[in-house]
Amino acid sequence: MIPSYRWLVEGSYPLVGTTSVSGGKNPALAVLAASLLCDDTCVIENVPDVDDIRVMLLLMRSIGAKATYAGADGRSIVVDPRGVNSDNPPAELARKIRASSYLMGALLGKLGQAEVAYPGGCDIGARTLDQHVKGFAALGACAKDQLGAVKLTSNGLRGAEIYMDVVTVGGTINLIIAAAKAEGTTLIFNAAKEPHVVEVANFLNSMGAVIKGAGTDVIRVKGVAKLHGSTYAIIPDQIVTGTIMIAAAATMGDVTIAGCIPTHMEALTAKLLESGVRVDYHDDTIRVRSNGAHRSITLKTQAYPGFPTDLQQPMTALLTTARGISVVTETIFESRFRQLGELARMGANITVDRNRAAITGVSSLHGAKITATDLRAGASLVIAALMAKGTTEICEPIHIDRGYENLTDKLNALGARITIQNADTMEEPA
Ligand code: EPZ
Repeated sequence: MIPSYRWLVEGSYPLVGTTSVSGGKNPALAVLAASLLCDDTCVIENVPDVDDIRVMLLLMRSIGAKATYAGADGRSIVVDPRGVNSDNPPAELARKIRASSYLMGALLGKLGQAEVAYPGGCDIGARTLDQHVKGFAALGACAKDQLGAVKLTSNGLRGAEIYMDVVTVGGTINLIIAAAKAEGTTLIFNAAKEPHVVEVANFLNSMGAVIKGAGTDVIRVKGVAKLHGSTYAIIPDQIVTGTIMIAAAATMGDVTIAGCIPTHMEALTAKLLESGVRVDYHDDTIRVRSNGAHRSITLKTQAYPGFPTDLQQPMTALLTTARGISVVTETIFESRFRQLGELARMGANITVDRNRAAITGVSSLHGAKITATDLRAGASLVIAALMAKGTTEICEPIHIDRGYENLTDKLNALGARITIQNADTMEEPA
């Protein structure tokens, strides 16, 4: 199949200079869903301009909310959810993104019922919703499978004590949203601690919710009857920050990332330091420098504050040329090594045993025709292409555009050489 567009990356140019990061995709998706609970209008600022956000806005409008861009920067969205009149967003939209599952919690909290198709998003594992549904049931909802959708009904939600069997970001967020206006107090044990969990709690609190403990294992949500309007700015994207940090190191560059939150990057920074990269923090900037003599490391993905699964794939690109054998263990998603086959096409030496990859450093990668199978696999391939000798053709970059705002422009401004080819102008690269 001919892709509708592709990226051609001329490799071996170091990234140098200063850049900034957009607002976080995953925090913004969760906050937009949570905004449906508002009893007035709210303004969400610093929303990234990426495809997944556009799908979320379509979903919100499909159920009767107003969600319109305001301001000149194209980053602020005014949400007026008072017209929400449907508990059943279109399945074809819901299946496009994982975060559509947050509409279950939001509609259950707002209308007492919801019928939302099983979500889509990156194909990186089974990604069940059992913990979400278990939590909704504890809050008093009746859940049924309804032809590829989850149908939730209730006579109003009541606070409950919920122990999560698995640390789940989406499950924790969905239950915070559902419980924010429930009658009484909800306790979520074994909660996820990711920055976007904290972000949703902060946003809801800015509207008058009473949520404590976000960022710890136990979150307490005291339900309130009404949520007032608010203006709230989304935090900088932790994964975009990390991707650029890795790209800077992998290309032997020197990049300063302004407007980020260094404390969110501790796990990645520790691993970059271990592999011989220089990383300096200063207030809200991070500078990453490397001379390219990287050492092999061991790395295991874990829930926050452990090493994020979303940066495992980008990091494997850097490790393909690190001296020695790096061992990468993926513990969160069972199918999150799909970038490795593509890296091998570029000359990487990798063996995989179940959820563990052994990466033996090679002297260099070479250009190849490769395919981005999911969002962070795509980011990994972009980094590998920037490192490689020669030209790399990245097919299906559409996955990358789902989560990275203007990535090609951003990297080109730092010295990368990436061109976008549309289907009608495509020629085989020389
Ligand atoms: C969120 O996915 C992010 N997505 C993912 O980012 C990220 O990789 C992931 O959290 C982990 O940090 C969004 O925020 C939209 P989970 P989510 O529930 O919520 C299992 C990206 O690249 N599980 O924390 O779906 C699940 O199978 C994306 O931007 C259950 O068993 O992740 C997985 O093994 C990809 N039962 C583990 O928990 C459940 O009910 C963690 O999943 C829910 C999850």
